Amino acid sequence: MSTLYNRSFLRLLDFKNSEIQYLINLSSKLKKLKKNEKETQYLKKKNIVLIFEKESTRTRCAFEVAAFDQGANVTYLGPGNTHLGYKESIIDTAKVLSRMYHGIEYRGHNHNIINILAKFATIPVWNGLTDQFHPTQILADLLTMQEILPKKKLREISCAYVGDANNNISNTMLEAAAITGLNLRLVAPKQCWPNKQFFSQCRLMSKENKGTILCTENVEEGVKNVDFIYTDVWVSMGECDKLWTDRIQLLKKYQINNNMIKLTKNKNVKILHCLPAFHDKNTILGKKISEKFNLCSGIEITHSIFEKHSNTIFEQSENRLHTIKAILIATLIKNNYSC
Ligand code: CP
Ligand code: NVA
Repeated sequence: MSTLYNRSFLRLLDFKNSEIQYLINLSSKLKKLKKNEKETQYLKKKNIVLIFEKESTRTRCAFEVAAFDQGANVTYLGPGNTHLGYKESIIDTAKVLSRMYHGIEYRGHNHNIINILAKFATIPVWNGLTDQFHPTQILADLLTMQEILPKKKLREISCAYVGDANNNISNTMLEAAAITGLNLRLVAPKQCWPNKQFFSQCRLMSKENKGTILCTENVEEGVKNVDFIYTDVWVSMGECDKLWTDRIQLLKKYQINNNMIKLTKNKNVKILHCLPAFHDKNTILGKKISEKFNLCSGIEITHSIFEKHSNTIFEQSENRLHTIKAILIATLIKNNYSC
């Protein structure tokens, strides 16, 4: 799609519904081609730099494998590996990298940093997560929803996002719903609701696209009859560990557990999680928090529900690869219609 060529991928609101749909369809095609070992390499001789100022498993691996599959070369710069912002301005860094690479992936803190990078780079910049948005994740989630409900359009699908509804995942879900008409319910205590102005903007756009968006504190109202329930960690990367005490108090009734599943009244309801998830005590932090707050099975999701829905959740993870590959091809290759 020519409108995507040479564009940065910073947040979903920068795109039209047709562009998002194009990326979902391209991801699906690329997924099939890879499975059938029929993938064509479109990114030979392209150099890509990945800047991660926060930890990552999925996003880094998805960018690297997408690049390798497509014949591109990758440089990984982890936390503390660059001069960015400390000894060298974001502007100068953008200019330097633009002389060597064809695209920049950036994961970091304030979204302003990636806006400046994109403004001063002459090559596409892809958002691998900022405090405000995680668009490559939500593109994978939209693909996953479409794969599970292939007969429905996104505006016929309903999803309840439960938990911290004021983070990068919920913000980006709001943007996805605004553009595609996906019916989204944010189910969270008022203290964890999104910025009012941003919410109103998304709700208005959603109405124009024949979708519905609502915020509710009431779990029963929020999850009734939904196709999907989506959750994320209750304290995000970069937030202070001290927040756990408050968040657990606020969010414990928004945990995905058997009771919540019953309240959906949909025996086919599917569960989504962007991962990493605290669903057992097999992580250092998960164990520490569970023991401190006397949580016997999981934090934002119980272990049994996680296990029951793990196929969907790990499909979501795999879809990070196919959707990121679609973004790389669409933004780096001028005539990619035949992909
Ligand atoms: N979901 C996600 O972005 O995972 P990583 O932090 O492992 O990249
Ligand atoms: N909200 C989470 C998303 C992780 C993929 C975080 O920023 O830590």
